[in-house]
Amino acid sequence: MKDDRYIKIFEDNQRWVEDINNTDIDFFARHYEEQNPDYLYIGCSDSRVPANEITGLSMGDLFVHRNLGNVVANSDMNMMSILQYAVEVLEVKHIVVCGHYGCGALKAAMLPHKFGVLDNWLRNIRDVYRFHKLELNEIKDLEQRMDRLSEVNVEEQVLNVVKSSSVQESYLKKGYPVVHGWMYDMRNGLLKDMNIDFKATLQKVQEIYNLEEDINNNNHYPIYQYPKTSK
Ligand code: CO
Repeated sequence: MKDDRYIKIFEDNQRWVEDINNTDIDFFARHYEEQNPDYLYIGCSDSRVPANEITGLSMGDLFVHRNLGNVVANSDMNMMSILQYAVEVLEVKHIVVCGHYGCGALKAAMLPHKFGVLDNWLRNIRDVYRFHKLELNEIKDLEQRMDRLSEVNVEEQVLNVVKSSSVQESYLKKGYPVVHGWMYDMRNGLLKDMNIDFKATLQKVQEIYNLEEDINNNNHYPIYQYPKTSK
């Protein structure tokens, strides 16, 4: 069944194409040729937190990965492939992990319920809770506790991004990307930069996850030989 709201999507799309062609006839041809985004955005799949809208960035500006609870898990090949591609091929200058208050995934992770396959994913967030349980358990108001969990979740996922070999290697050789943590507040639409100190985070990561020696000695094989013609 195709209801009116479904059909309207395609009608709106045609109107959108016409509007763009009327003002910029090369728009689609230009975008088809290449992408050159400066940002990799890692956020939640929540329909109320659309990456381009909340940042005001246009088509081509933002490389995006979204999942439940904006988690960066090193066993998630989707996430890790996007991270590697964004850093090594697109050479993004900034990586943003954007959490949001009122996140359903975090709410679910705080509930003592069994959700089935989702439990494996929520475990990533429950691990974050475990790392920060002394602070979180002190917060008696449940909404405030969830708000704080959202923030420490972003801090932990920023750490997970920095742990990756692509990010460490690129930063040590080229001085980018810098990794940021943001919070989006659905209650008022405002974005907040958590001002995470990237250099301090990198130092903290390198106490344990240090890959610097191999990077500096070039004592490794290139991960792939991708022709960089599109850059
Ligand atoms: Co969410």
